Amino acid sequence: MTAIAINDLFVNRNGTEVLQGISFTVETGSVYALLGGNGAGKSTTLLTLLGFLSPHGGSVTVLDMDVTKQIDRLRRQIAYLPEAATLYPHLNAYENLEYFLDLAGMKTTQTQLDTTLDEVGLQAESRSRHMDNYSKGMRQKVAIALAILRETPVLLLDEPTSGLDPVAIDEFNALVRNLAELGKTILMVTHDVYGACQIADRIGLLRRGQLVGSFNAIEGEQIKTDLVHAAFAERANN
Ligand SMILES: Nc1ncnc2c1ncn2[C@@H]1O[C@H](COP(=O)(O)OP(=O)(O)OP(=O)(O)O)[C@@H](O)[C@H]1O
Ligand SMILES: [Mg+2]
Repeated sequence: MTAIAINDLFVNRNGTEVLQGISFTVETGSVYALLGGNGAGKSTTLLTLLGFLSPHGGSVTVLDMDVTKQIDRLRRQIAYLPEAATLYPHLNAYENLEYFLDLAGMKTTQTQLDTTLDEVGLQAESRSRHMDNYSKGMRQKVAIALAILRETPVLLLDEPTSGLDPVAIDEFNALVRNLAELGKTILMVTHDVYGACQIADRIGLLRRGQLVGSFNAIEGEQIKTDLVHAAFAERANN
């Protein structure tokens, strides 16, 4: 089953054609990594899926709903981790999670919060401290926890591992793989070739608003890092 379908998508920003006819699908219960250099159009793709930017050509469908027509219904089904997540520095991790989940109309128990913060690897002793004391990676862990706690069938993650140390990245990758096994559909945007190959069922290579390559994992084997890296580097030199 297809959870996300992008077909011949064109998006303009400030008069520039940022996405130039990209097409790809993400299957239910799979991880798709959209890889590309700075300014390629990765975040733009996610913002369009969330209905924050309007296409001027093509179509975007999530869970069989047209993004341009049913965005209010759709947003309840999508958790989004933005490139620079905004959490309140004068609140602690629990308070931030409770506040943002409340905005999404959700109630959670302390146990649920702790279980998810365990999963993302935020140390227990930090959780009650104001977040202005947090390192970048610690803040990122809380933002990831928030996306997971939304319990939506679809997750859009914009550079989720940015700021995380190598151990935290491995933990995050295992967590995302596990979410996919549980049936969640994950579209993540990243610069990290190695991390993408570790967890993605499919990788799309975006270059200047065009999808210039695609790699599939076959039979439980990981996509080969050197292949993707070579394609990424080759395109970057063009
Ligand atoms: N707020 C904006 N207004 C107008 N144009 C923008 C805006 N944000 C980005 N752009 C343009 O859209 C293009 C794609 O940007 P986008 O943020 O989607 O890239 P990206 O692949 O996410 O890059 P990065 O890896 O740096 O996050 C860039 O050329 C950029 O100049
Ligand atoms: Mg971006």
